[in-house]
Amino acid sequence: MAQKRALITGITGQDGSYLAEFLLAKNYKVFGLTRRTSTPNYERIKHIEDKIELIPGDLLDQQSLTSAVEYSNPDEIYNLAAQSFVATSWSQPVLTGEFTALGATRMLEALRQVKPKAKFYQASSSEMFGKVVETPQTEKTPFHPRSPYGVAKVYGHWITINYRESYDLFAVSGILFNHESPRRGLEFVTRKISNGVARIKLGLSKNIALGNLDAKRDWGFAGDYVEAMWLMLQQDNPGDYVIATGTNHSVEEFVKAAFEAIGEGSWKKYVKISKEFMRPAEVDFLIGDAAKAQKILGWKPKVSFKQLVKMMVDSDIELLKKNSK
Ligand code: NAP
Ligand code: GDD
Repeated sequence: MAQKRALITGITGQDGSYLAEFLLAKNYKVFGLTRRTSTPNYERIKHIEDKIELIPGDLLDQQSLTSAVEYSNPDEIYNLAAQSFVATSWSQPVLTGEFTALGATRMLEALRQVKPKAKFYQASSSEMFGKVVETPQTEKTPFHPRSPYGVAKVYGHWITINYRESYDLFAVSGILFNHESPRRGLEFVTRKISNGVARIKLGLSKNIALGNLDAKRDWGFAGDYVEAMWLMLQQDNPGDYVIATGTNHSVEEFVKAAFEAIGEGSWKKYVKISKEFMRPAEVDFLIGDAAKAQKILGWKPKVSFKQLVKMMVDSDIELLKKNSK
């Protein structure tokens, strides 16, 4: 059988790096779209850089996306690139719309014009549920996004379905709940906490400044979630799936578990609440029901909340020790 070919946008990001590893292990030829930066930011993919092929391109630039599809001639396209930080979407709402919403249309256009037989994955988000109208959230739960990012993702979700219905494409939307890892960006709350706790443990900081500790998220491990993306594209028919653990925890519970991971029982003295990290509109509570994915894809998360927190704290301690040498 011919070697399968995959094009990943957002390969330098958390999910892109795990997905690239996953596909390489399945013997795929992996291409990754990277945008120009004045210094390369290949930190997350440096261990596999010689096994993948990077193609320059930007979600803002249709021609570069069309050329990337032409060049890579993919069987599968994973559109993971986005402005993915919710807080930034209020300070850069138009840019977020350009990347996260219209970027999906540009990728779909590239696919439609160059390789309509390729299978397409759109990285949709539980952030679309926002002010949730039912619990737990499923593929049928209506959306009420609470941030410009969430609104942009709703657009990305529906344009994917629209292209599937209009042009008979194999285009799917994965509605993924929060997933974290040692490769998570430092601005997201879980990594901010694991990094902060590691710094406190090593005597490099005295406290962590956070915003709303009451928000609850359904947190899973990114390594488990990229398998679900791939499984969605291995089906005979395209469909949209919720991917989640089915359990949730508050930010406060994450903080507590992270301090417990270093054997520190009293976390309160280390945490400062700062208005700077409060949002104009909050998503208070997310919990997903991944029964459809379990039934059709045979997918289940493997890493528990406690294992995830410990994995992140341990990794940050090791990283800080290594960097201080
Ligand atoms: P991430 O770490 O922030 O990675 C985002 C990627 O998009 C990076 O590779 C980034 O490149 C790239 N990118 C941003 N703007 C671009 C542009 N204009 N042109 C080309 N590439 C661009 O995000 P992630 O956590 O891996 O998430 C992957 C996707 O899943 C995103 O679409 C996110 O919104 C979505 N999602 C994530 C979660 C989650 O919990 N992680 C949950 C649901 C959905 P640079 O390295 O150059 O910045
Ligand atoms: N980032 C951050 N920093 N969040 C904080 C802080 C802080 O100091 N303090 C409290 N929080 C709260 C936020 O208000 C939010 O309720 C929660 O922690 C999670 O914030 P993030 O980790 O930034 O993630 P998110 O849930 O907003 O968005 C992530 O998950 C989405 C899926 O639901 C991102 O990965 C999105 O790209 C993704 O779509």
